[in-house]
Amino acid sequence: MTRHFLRDDDLGPAEQAEILALADSLKADRFGTRPLAGPRTVAVLFDKPSTRTRISFAVGISDLGGVPLVIDAGVAQLGRGEPIEDTARVLERQVAAIVWRTFGQDRVETMARHAGVPVVNALTDTFHPCQLLADLQTIREHKSRLSGLRLAYLGDGANNMAHSYLLAGATAGMHVAVGSPADLPPDPGILSRAAAIAEQTGGSAAHLIDPEEAVKGADVVATDTWVSMGDEDRSAAYLELLRPYAVDDAAMSRAAADAVVLHCLPAYRGQEISASVIDGPQSVVWDQAENRLHAQKALLTWLLARAEDER
Ligand code: CP
Ligand code: NVA
Repeated sequence: MTRHFLRDDDLGPAEQAEILALADSLKADRFGTRPLAGPRTVAVLFDKPSTRTRISFAVGISDLGGVPLVIDAGVAQLGRGEPIEDTARVLERQVAAIVWRTFGQDRVETMARHAGVPVVNALTDTFHPCQLLADLQTIREHKSRLSGLRLAYLGDGANNMAHSYLLAGATAGMHVAVGSPADLPPDPGILSRAAAIAEQTGGSAAHLIDPEEAVKGADVVATDTWVSMGDEDRSAAYLELLRPYAVDDAAMSRAAADAVVLHCLPAYRGQEISASVIDGPQSVVWDQAENRLHAQKALLTWLLARAEDER
């Protein structure tokens, strides 16, 4: 069976650790691994805007000896309603892998069911698993470990980043607390899946409505935009609901004194995060953005090796 990466728990703990170790070695020796030499092509499809994902996949695929074929929805027949199944069949005969940022999780799942090459989720409404590989690499660089660390995510508990922190953090053996309003909880199925993974890895997964409780003693404090792509019609009342969950100096005073701060970006200073925090000494967001490159190169290298084994 072709391996895909559609959600964080598509990788078990040992597999996640293997990819993170590979990400570190690719960071140390950026051009030493060329699984796409040929050059082979990787399709990178976008149904939503992107800066970091677009750049890091395009650069990473080139670093690996391949050709990135970046396609925006507006210029492909997929954007005009051509079936995903038909697009998958056309792509699989020509490209080594398919990377896709889109809306519903069901769309990447359909692509994966019909493509005989690895499919990678570059963000859906439900998960952002490539971001989490970069986040975990960044945390380990700054904290020397993952297992046993306390990670607090404050903000929209129902969005893709909250869900990915739960699953990927639990897989890494971390204690993940999502602090979000009662009206914006994580998906209950994803929360219970994270708790089940955490039981195996020694971590934990929780939803806390009290933001002060969620961030207390955290080693890692993470947040994300309050208005995700596709949620632009959210009201002012909704933003008010999130205000107590802002990552500002008061929130950071409750975290561990040596806590690091993550934000997947783009950031909205003065909303989910204060300028003093994101531009301050505890912020590691630029390392985090760079690590998208190394972590995704590691992921592609790992998936391509497995696809090769199958042949
Ligand atoms: N963090 C992230 O995925 O950024 P982009 O939306 O710019 O790709
Ligand atoms: N939750 C955000 C992440 C952006 C990288 C969104 O989906 O827009």
